[in-house]
Amino acid sequence: MQVRIFENAEQVGKAAALLFASQVTRKPNSVLGLATGSSPIGCYQQLIAWHKEGILDFSECISYNLDEYVGLDIEHETSYHAFMKAQLFDHINMKETNLPDGNAEDLVAEAKRYDAAIEAAGGIDMQLLGIGRNGHIGFNEPADKFVYGTQIVDLTESTIDANTRFFENKDQVPRKAISLGIGGIMNAKEVVLIAMGADKAQAIHDTVYGEIDPQVQASILRSHPHVTILVDKAAASLL
Ligand code: F6R
Repeated sequence: MQVRIFENAEQVGKAAALLFASQVTRKPNSVLGLATGSSPIGCYQQLIAWHKEGILDFSECISYNLDEYVGLDIEHETSYHAFMKAQLFDHINMKETNLPDGNAEDLVAEAKRYDAAIEAAGGIDMQLLGIGRNGHIGFNEPADKFVYGTQIVDLTESTIDANTRFFENKDQVPRKAISLGIGGIMNAKEVVLIAMGADKAQAIHDTVYGEIDPQVQASILRSHPHVTILVDKAAASLL
């Protein structure tokens, strides 16, 4: 596990973009694992800028996102489908983009379908991750065990509180999500985790130094052979 500490959040985003840009340059038909939330926005802006300059071509790339809320219309501006369109997909030329369907009638079947689709695509080459204040990755919340496959999760109070900022009020935040499981994340050939801000410092500390413990789901990354953690000074303040 490599940890790189940057002066500020902007640098973290650009450093993450560098890794994704080199992945796509090295392997034009990469399968990219993508994330939503505040953390990846700077990275996506840099990738868009390089694409617009003609340096980066995604026309052979396929992407799979980590997660989506359950029961939220994908046209809703806070759905992860809408987020990805607005923040990245509408501005680059990705060949194919995928997110789990949080409105599927049979969510268990959808979870299986999503895992099978990723496997059929050859697996994820590079997975981008943010981290929750509680150490979650994707929406794999603190638990007694690590769940391998894509799963339907009950969001914790801490995650609902954190995500209220994207909605009009807390009552509007969906209580459930469908998320790539820990197995899906660990199967990625390379993982890039980014974190900015002091409210991520404890989760980053526990990920880097703590025991591998499902109460801090990101700690499993310690056993992944190729993980790069990019943090700003605030998120690194407990390291
Ligand atoms: C998003 C996701 C989450 C976020 C995490 C951090 O697809 O899976 O794990 O990465 O909640 O969110 P931000 O970046 O908004 O602090």
